[in-house]
Order: sequence, then structure tokens, then C-alpha cells
Amino acid sequence: MTKAAPPKRLFIKTYGCQMNVYDSERMADVLRPLGYALTEEAEGADLVVLNTCHIREKAAEKVYSELGRLKEMKGRKAEAGGVMTIAVAGCVAQAEGEEIMIRQPAVDLVIGPQAYHQFPELIARVHRGRGERLSADFAAHEKFDALPTSRTVSGVTAFLTVQEGCDKFCTFCVVPYTRGGEYSRPAEAILAEAEQLAAQGVREVTLLGQNVNAYAGEGGLAGLVRRLAQIPGLSRIRYTTSHPRDMDEALIGAHGEIEALMPYLHLPVQSGSDKILRAMNRAHTAETYLRLIEKIRAARPDIALSGDFIVGFPGETDKDFEATLELVRAVGYASAFSFKYSRRPGTPASAMPGQVDEAVKEERLARLLDLLNEQQLDFNQAQVGRTLPILFEKAGRNPGQVVGRTPYLQPVHIEASTGLIGRIAPVTITAATRGSLTGALAPTPALEPA
Ligand code: SAH
Ligand code: SF4
Ligand code: F3S
Repeated sequence: MTKAAPPKRLFIKTYGCQMNVYDSERMADVLRPLGYALTEEAEGADLVVLNTCHIREKAAEKVYSELGRLKEMKGRKAEAGGVMTIAVAGCVAQAEGEEIMIRQPAVDLVIGPQAYHQFPELIARVHRGRGERLSADFAAHEKFDALPTSRTVSGVTAFLTVQEGCDKFCTFCVVPYTRGGEYSRPAEAILAEAEQLAAQGVREVTLLGQNVNAYAGEGGLAGLVRRLAQIPGLSRIRYTTSHPRDMDEALIGAHGEIEALMPYLHLPVQSGSDKILRAMNRAHTAETYLRLIEKIRAARPDIALSGDFIVGFPGETDKDFEATLELVRAVGYASAFSFKYSRRPGTPASAMPGQVDEAVKEERLARLLDLLNEQQLDFNQAQVGRTLPILFEKAGRNPGQVVGRTPYLQPVHIEASTGLIGRIAPVTITAATRGSLTGALAPTPALEPA
């Protein structure tokens, strides 16, 4: 009898947004039938994939320094008589495919975000033709149609990509170039995938898209959420990232009607200055954004709001920046991400006059962060004394501790048995920091049958 070949070791390092996290999981799914099993260590791996992000200069530069380290590892593996294949995937691959090949000869394969279903074939070609180096990219619908229908997951929560790409062309952003135009997956495929996830014990899905609320399948995103909410076991639904322009009445209404739709919304505004918003091509003003927030709060008063901000966009004056602070004060965010404007080659804003000094960007970022951090702490402290349904996800770092999340996405640590993992139980919040909450199981019957 012949012994089965030992699994080949696959190491994937993921940068950037949640869509890359999802894609990395799907790459592992595509490669599993070829005998590749995931490993935690790049050293000694047979195949290393860097799933990259191009959004800011720092993100892209990280990839080249990581490739330098991998080159050394590849050399060590070759000395030991083995072969390490290096693939660069994701948005840097899409944007700078040729440049990667030139800058780092140790790279065997560059594969754009639309081509992952081609991975097995491309790997085989690289292995057949030693020295042949490949670069590939295809249309999004082919990718989704061709990816295996089965997914293997182990957690309580999962990401599910429903939409890809962007047609908005904000003047600072590379995503329309790296991910292509907006594309929505058919609802049937999404529902089938969600059912499969639920059958594996997933209790919460986060629907993903660069413009998830532009989901163009029948019934829009609200219709999709409504159908997903019917799947037994799937108790929580979230979605990210939304554009204010696509936040329609049906979706706002859904927040007030669908119990499984969690009261948390990431709705980036970028700036509070209309002049800057116009230069960014955002198609909303500070005023229309604030009115939208009012409507959303009317539908779901306790909703936790999150956003993205850019400071130091070309032409941003102190007054423009003050307008951003003012908008933040008017909204009251539960969490947020803020960035210094990063000049991206090929985007319109990179050629705009009035590029802002790095020191000014630093100073504005620090002031904005102070305000946002204060709001986050306030939001968390406002939960103290409340009893909230917590979905338990994993064991805590300290023994005897489990970690879950509130409907508002805040992490909660409690002392309890890991038997709670995968269940939703009421917890009374006893303390809060900016990063997380602590609490104790409420002495009431479970919110749902065990
Ligand atoms: N599609 C989403 C987010 C895409 S990228 C949206 O429209 O909101 C995530 C965030 O990165 C953006 O919201 C923006 O705040 C930030 N970002 C994008 N390009 C950037 C750049 N050139 N410099 C700094 N931040 C940037
Ligand atoms: Fe980028 Fe704007 Fe599209 Fe968001 S909406 S991905 S920020 S171009
Ligand atoms: Fe980065 Fe691409 Fe996501 S540029 S943020 S990985 S879509």
C-alpha cells in the first residue's frame, strides 16, 4: 500500500481589509484539494501567499520588506533541497504586478484579486516550467462562479463577500483600479453559502463589499438581509463598508425591523468640510450626511455609528479640519478609523495642488484621534449597568475567561466556561475601557434555548 503524500504547507499572510481576509480563506479552500494545508509559519512552507493591500503607501511598502525576508527563507529551503513558491495576491498584485516581478525576482507568481479560482492551474504552470513567472487577472463573476462551493470554517462568526469593486472614484482612492467596477453576487449563491456556514456552527455573518450597500441583486441589500435572517441558527447579520450615497430607505428601514440585523453601522464620511468633500468626489455634504444619520437613528435609536476619516487631503485648511471635528461632535461615534492622507500614484488627488505638510497631518490626526477616543470611551461607558445579549466567540487570553461581542460590536470579557462559545447569553456590563467591556452572566434565564 502506498502512503498518502504528506500535506504541502501553505502560509498566507493577509493585509488590508476584511475582503482580503475572506479572499485568503477562499484561496485556502481552492488549494486544499491539491494537498495544501495551512501553517502558522512562513519558514519552511511550500507555498507562501502574500495577500496585499494598496490603500496607503505604508501598506504597499510593507509587502516589499516582507518579500525580502521571504527571499532569505526561499534560499534556506533551497539549500535543504526543497522548493518554496512565492505568490503575491491582492491589490498590490493588481496595481503593481510588473513592478513586483522586477523588484523581487524571488516572486514566482503575481495574481490579481479576480483570479483566485485560477490558482491551482497557475501553481501547476509555475512548477512545470521552472523559471516561468506568471501574472494573472480576470473578471469578478468568473471568480465567484468558479470558486469551490464548499467552505471550511471553524469559528462562530464569518465573513461573506456579496459585492466587489467600486464605481465611485473618490479622488484619493485606489480601490476602483485594484478591484474593478461594482459587481454583485447572485442572491442564491450567497444564501447557499450562508446556509453552509450556519450548518458549520456560524452564528453571525458579516456581509462584505467595498460598497456593500450598493448590492444590486434583487431586493437590494435590505432584501438580502431579510432572506438571510430566515436561516435557522444565523442570529446576527452585519455588513460593511457602506457609502452614504447608497444608504436607501429600505436599508434604513431594515435596521428598525429585522431583529438579526445588528445595531452597528460603519458609514465613512471622510471629512466634515464641503469644500474637501467636493474635491474628494464624495457626492455628499456634511449636511446630507448628518440628515442621513438622523434618519438612521430614527429607525434604530441605539445604533452604534462608525466611520472613516482622512486628514490632510490636498487643500485642507485649519478651517476645513475644524469642520471635521465639528461633524464628529455632532454625530458621536462609537468607533472610527482615521488616516493621514496618502498620495497614491495615478489617483486624481495625488496631482492636486495644496498637498499638506506631514507635520500638519500628524497634528490633525492626533487631535481627531483624541476626540474619537473620547467618544469611544463614552459609548462604552454608557453600557455599564445594562444587560446585553452577548455572542460568545472564543476563550480569553486568561484561563477561565471567554470573549464575546455586544450587538454594537464591542468585545466583552467575562469569567465563565468555554461551553458558552457559540451561544448568545445575557451579560450585565460592569466596567468599560476604550477597547472593551467586562461583565458577568446575568442571573436570568437564557435569552434563547441552549
Ligand atoms: N469603500 C469604503 C472604504 C475603502 S478604503 C468607503 O468608501 O468608505 C478604507 C478607508 O481608507 C477609506 O474609507 C478612507 O478613509 C481610507 N483611504 C482610502 N484611500 C486613502 C488614501 N489615499 N489616504 C488615506 N486614507 C485613505
Ligand atoms: Fe474608495 Fe471611495 Fe470607492 Fe470607498 S467609495 S472604495 S473610498 S473610491
Ligand atoms: Fe486594501 Fe484592496 Fe482592501 S487596497 S483596503 S485590500 S480592497
